[in-house]
Amino acid sequence: MSIRFVDSTGQFVLETADTCYQMKVDEMGYLQHLYYGSKIGQNDMSYPFRTYDHGFSGNPYEMRLNRAYSLDSMAQEFTSFGVGDYRVTSFRASFSDGSRCAEFHYVSHEIVEGKYAIPGLPSVYDNGESVHTLIITLKDFAVNVEVKLYYGVFEELNIITRAVEIVNTGKDIVWLRKASSMCLELPFGKWDMIHFHGRHCMERQPERVPLFHGVHTLSSGRGMSSHQHNPFIILCDRDANEDAGKCYGVMLMYSGNHKTEVERDQFDGVRIVTGVNDDRFRWELTAGASFYTPEVILTCADGLTQLSHNYHRVIRRNVVRGEYKLSHRPVLINNWEATYFDITEEKVMAIAEKAKALGIEMFVLDDGWFKNRNDDNAGLGDWVPDTDKLPNGLDGLIAKINALGLRFGLWIEPEMVSEDSDLFRAHPDWAMTAPNRAPMMSRNQLVLDLSRQEVHDYLFATISGLLEKYNISYIKWDFNRSISDVYSHSIPSPRQGEVAHRYYLSLYKLYDRLTKQFPYVLFEGCAGGGGRFDAGMLAYSPQIWCSDNTDPISRLKIQYGTSFGYPACTVGAHVSASPNHQTGRKTPIHTRGVVAMSGTFGYELDLTALSDEDCAQIKEQIARFKELEPMIHSGKLYRLSRMSDSTHYVAWQYVSEDQDRALLNIVVTNPLANSAPVHVRLKGLLPDAVYSVGGEFECRGAALMSGGYTFPRLTGDYPAVQLDIIRIK
Ligand code: DGJ
Repeated sequence: MSIRFVDSTGQFVLETADTCYQMKVDEMGYLQHLYYGSKIGQNDMSYPFRTYDHGFSGNPYEMRLNRAYSLDSMAQEFTSFGVGDYRVTSFRASFSDGSRCAEFHYVSHEIVEGKYAIPGLPSVYDNGESVHTLIITLKDFAVNVEVKLYYGVFEELNIITRAVEIVNTGKDIVWLRKASSMCLELPFGKWDMIHFHGRHCMERQPERVPLFHGVHTLSSGRGMSSHQHNPFIILCDRDANEDAGKCYGVMLMYSGNHKTEVERDQFDGVRIVTGVNDDRFRWELTAGASFYTPEVILTCADGLTQLSHNYHRVIRRNVVRGEYKLSHRPVLINNWEATYFDITEEKVMAIAEKAKALGIEMFVLDDGWFKNRNDDNAGLGDWVPDTDKLPNGLDGLIAKINALGLRFGLWIEPEMVSEDSDLFRAHPDWAMTAPNRAPMMSRNQLVLDLSRQEVHDYLFATISGLLEKYNISYIKWDFNRSISDVYSHSIPSPRQGEVAHRYYLSLYKLYDRLTKQFPYVLFEGCAGGGGRFDAGMLAYSPQIWCSDNTDPISRLKIQYGTSFGYPACTVGAHVSASPNHQTGRKTPIHTRGVVAMSGTFGYELDLTALSDEDCAQIKEQIARFKELEPMIHSGKLYRLSRMSDSTHYVAWQYVSEDQDRALLNIVVTNPLANSAPVHVRLKGLLPDAVYSVGGEFECRGAALMSGGYTFPRLTGDYPAVQLDIIRIK
């Protein structure tokens, strides 16, 4: 059993293969956090805590004569609010008598087999492995609010999930103003934080900063998890690196407005609170009602590599669902960067024919296929094929593509509406707009108010209608603006603070219904590239378009940042044209192929305009990717170079699950004259096994991991090498 309650001490002990999490109910009934870290046997981890009289840190009434006892300095599992803990809080509410204070005391707990689910929200699920759930109920009797803390312990995966249910056990309405998914405390130590910031076309750039005193806030209020701040952070020892040092991952499984606060307090303790963004949040909790928070996926590991492996495994096996979970993802050609809106059946067929000849398996028709969509100013909402562009309709085109032996995929952006559309003319109130105010426009489009049931039903009917009518194997589900003017014309004014979260409850339900009804359709998430790249979306779309920036050199950094939390099988990556359309950079097709292979792999360029030489390389790349895909998608990734170093190359490696095979990748980003040779130490091999290294020589795993490998001199425009390391003995 991975969860124990020690009656004599009031302690909860949660254990995974390599980690331990401890908390305890103290003499006042508060749930104190004691420890999260490596396994420590049966040890009671309350011993390092010493309490002092901290003067201005006050004391609960019953403890008024014990000045060393203060909520303000205590490590806690779920915090109070307004009663003397002045650090960031996990909970805020206002009550019918106008008060805004709450503190939660232990009431009961329950330990159950298997993993809890969260009504209406995606969560990590169990596949029959050893998983247990702990539910601890806390209560504030003065305001009649119960808080249920959920802990899911995935023993073999070294993963602990957390979520919270807040229940109004009284008779009056409670207005929730902050309902975080967890509070995690690191009471001792000196920590760096790694977070993943960015912008459109440059998502998930890792930034490592030492924690200062005060609160670091990483959030999105853009109505999506965002290009700017991924809902994932790492806290690590100051000297932690890929191989060593304590590292904690905090990944919020949510695609909407989120907020993570990391506070280093006056006594150097660190508190992390994460969940739905509380800015503009206000939720009416009626008598007897529950509010469920999104889930947090926690891991603790020695070294960043192990932390990433823990996330890769859990996302691959316990987050992603459906037929494509662990199976081959079709190598696709997407026409976007080949034609943009200028689609004709002739052009599409010419690209598709060439694609088939090269070994591509699926054609994806991107934006521009529907009525009145000649640029990005109009047409969203009316999902009817443009017969000027496609004279044989979508069915005619699909039949021809299928006849070539290719599957067909389609782009849609269902959550949006253009003012110049039949849908908007019929239902202007379905768009998110604030009263008496011209809405902020972005890409000249508006966001549909998905919190409305009619909008949800309309989208389900429209998308399922397309999937029923046409032979569609794949959907690219785009989302090309941030949400503003958040307001629902169907919700009473005091409850407008619910709209942003209700939007996502409805979106998740929509995805859930569609993926259940059409299990054979592969969904690829997208939001102007990787603006909604999060574990919440991955529960429905096994892959997400990683960035609108397809330049391989930019992608090295984007995919590097993404790799800390998310496995390669979730990363939508394509070979595009050179010069690249976003950066103007020229790169060899080989390099573009090497970089795109660290993802789901496909092409996005005009195949009919390529030289015979490039086409021959594409043919080889596809055959090679199909051979390498099981290792890249299910094996282990090792980052061999640090992006923050001023190195002139990026190197990374995959190792197959059975460690019989590895793939060493390098791209030279800045060739230097007369430089020292590039040398890397390999990782993750079997020490005693003998490997053939690129067919060049044979070597023991131990030697390659200690003595490393020296690359031949690589010069020219962004050269790349992909080296096979294959076990022979
Ligand atoms: C943004 C996406 O990320 C692109 O790949 C493309 O689908 C465009 N939208 C189409 O409008």
